[in-house]
Amino acid sequence: MKFFVDTADIADIKEMADTGLLDGVTTNPSLIKKAGRDFIEVTKEICGLVDGPVSAEVVALDHDGMMREAEILRKIADNVAIKVPLTIDGLKTCKKLTSDGTMVNVTLCFSANQALLAAKAGATFISPFVGRHDDNGFDGMALISDIRLIYDNYDFDTEILVASIRHPIHVLESAKIGADVATMPPAVIKSLFKHVLTDKGIEGFMKDWAQTGQSIG
Ligand code: E4P
Repeated sequence: MKFFVDTADIADIKEMADTGLLDGVTTNPSLIKKAGRDFIEVTKEICGLVDGPVSAEVVALDHDGMMREAEILRKIADNVAIKVPLTIDGLKTCKKLTSDGTMVNVTLCFSANQALLAAKAGATFISPFVGRHDDNGFDGMALISDIRLIYDNYDFDTEILVASIRHPIHVLESAKIGADVATMPPAVIKSLFKHVLTDKGIEGFMKDWAQTGQSIG
């Protein structure tokens, strides 16, 4: 499963990229607002930090407007993935852009039927929002299972990019289901490394090692 980080914060992206485990980045208008940077400028900087796809979202709601914005965004770098909302205009835009060889991430997916439509529109990624699904009394992970089943039934190439991840269990379940990508806030990625027994084990080994009086090298 690929790991994307869900942020436009340069320091966080650098920290995650330094682990060597980062496969891409997702942003959205709310994350751009949080970063407090010029959209084009910060997207360019992010694209230079990671080799993998960097999602940049259009804000127009009509097809022509989305195409105009996508033209600007896709010129930023070869690894930009244009993010479009799951609407009729969004999927029209997706179809057009992917036919031209541009990566497209279809966002704000909340049903398996929507995911089916996105795959038929040739989406590179579909982003089902599991956390927001759970928040509203639905089962986010059941949505991922349904999409996996449908995509496998028809051999769709569209990658399932699990979004709106809130905690490590979302990541674990995504991996068990066979999702292609998980995009996570930096804090969730960091929490995956942690285990109380790892910390306790290191503490014990360090204590015993100190008592040997030895050093390596
Ligand atoms: C995905 O691409 C979105 O940017 C993101 O995962 C949304 O997460 P949120 O529900 O925590 O805002």
